[in-house]
Amino acid sequence: MSRPPAAKPARGEPGQRRNIGAVRSSFAPWNDPNATPLVRFEGVTKRFGDHAAVNDVSLDIYPGEFFALLGPSGCGKTTLMRMLAGFETLDAGRITLAGQDLAGAPPHKRPVNMMFQSYALFPHLTVEQNIAFGLKQEGMPKKDIAARVAEMLALVKLEPFAKRRPDQLSGGQKQRVALARAVARKPRMLLLDEPLGALDKKLREETQFELMDLQVELGVTFLIVTHDQEEAMVMADRIAVMRDGRIVQIGRPEEVYEAPNSRYVAEFLGDVNLFETTVEAIEHPMAHLNLAEAEAGFYVLDDDCPQPGATVWLAVRPEKMRISLDPPAPGARNVLAGEIWDIGYTGDWTNYIVELPGGKLVRVARANARRFVARPIDWDDKVWVSFDPDAGVVLTS
Ligand SMILES: Nc1ncnc2c1ncn2[C@@H]1O[C@H](COP(=O)(O)OP(=O)(O)OP(=O)(O)O)[C@@H](O)[C@H]1O
Ligand SMILES: [Mg+2]
Repeated sequence: MSRPPAAKPARGEPGQRRNIGAVRSSFAPWNDPNATPLVRFEGVTKRFGDHAAVNDVSLDIYPGEFFALLGPSGCGKTTLMRMLAGFETLDAGRITLAGQDLAGAPPHKRPVNMMFQSYALFPHLTVEQNIAFGLKQEGMPKKDIAARVAEMLALVKLEPFAKRRPDQLSGGQKQRVALARAVARKPRMLLLDEPLGALDKKLREETQFELMDLQVELGVTFLIVTHDQEEAMVMADRIAVMRDGRIVQIGRPEEVYEAPNSRYVAEFLGDVNLFETTVEAIEHPMAHLNLAEAEAGFYVLDDDCPQPGATVWLAVRPEKMRISLDPPAPGARNVLAGEIWDIGYTGDWTNYIVELPGGKLVRVARANARRFVARPIDWDDKVWVSFDPDAGVVLTS
């Protein structure tokens, strides 16, 4: 006798979830010359004293896009967002929304809403009063406010908490109130500054999916700031990586991860092994790179590889490296011999750190696809690390 199927999770229809993925992978208005951006930053600069917190940033964000700004603390993410929301003036450049220059428009006149890094809930107001606040301010009739607040409470699943004050809520619940308050006015664009920063890992992951659902449900354009690269990769259609007030790369998560344009971006998103080397020869489609640690050097795809003699860095992600106790076949390329220096076991993955004869450390990540292996790799084992010619990216800066 077969058992009835298990209840489906409450979050959305299963069919709908599959659709989201299908829609998202074909969503690429930035490649369409006829698409009009919703927001356009053109040469935007903001200085505090001598320091340019945002330095000549040009960026287009498209209607319905989920766009993430990523970068280390102090690189200008919040400042960029505050200029769009109208809390900060520009020193140069302009920002347009649906073709209209936003200069001079006060924050409450802009069709954007910002959820702050600290949530900034009003401590003396209840959950429903917090959500109603902006609606009252813009003069919405009372009964419409009540209906909108009820809709928002349902959206973030906080109906039972309507009468509580923020200090009677958990961190995750506060975060939902802030979110409901930010979307209550149905802005065209929602700016979220570290919206999940205060949540623990589990709740953070759940909330990431809820935010993505919410975005599809509301049809709002999202600009999100995070310092968590994994979070940006999970949620965003595109990511901009910032450094010292400038945008250094924009692309889909997989583009930025698999084809970083610099060591900075490669190192900022995930782990990477960087080998400083020189180009020995171009033997199209391969480039031959010199490397003291690898007897035969490295052979990689010559995409964007400069001419022989140039100094380059080969970037190879740990999960694209193989590790073995057995020596490679004679003549094998892209092989490094070393000794296990450290092992980190995380359950699903094992991370090996291998010391090469010159002292350089190489990281190799291996998925634990089997529960048991005959002879596990152990500390101080002599091992061989190798990778395919297309596993690495040649970087020039
Ligand atoms: N009102 C201000 N007056 C002076 N300097 C400021 C002001 N606001 C921001 N800055 C400076 O501008 C730079 C960018 O700040 P911003 O808050 O945009 O960084 P961020 O990328 O959001 O960092 P975090 O990840 O820490 O939030 C920092 O060097 C910061 O000290
Ligand atoms: Mg910030």
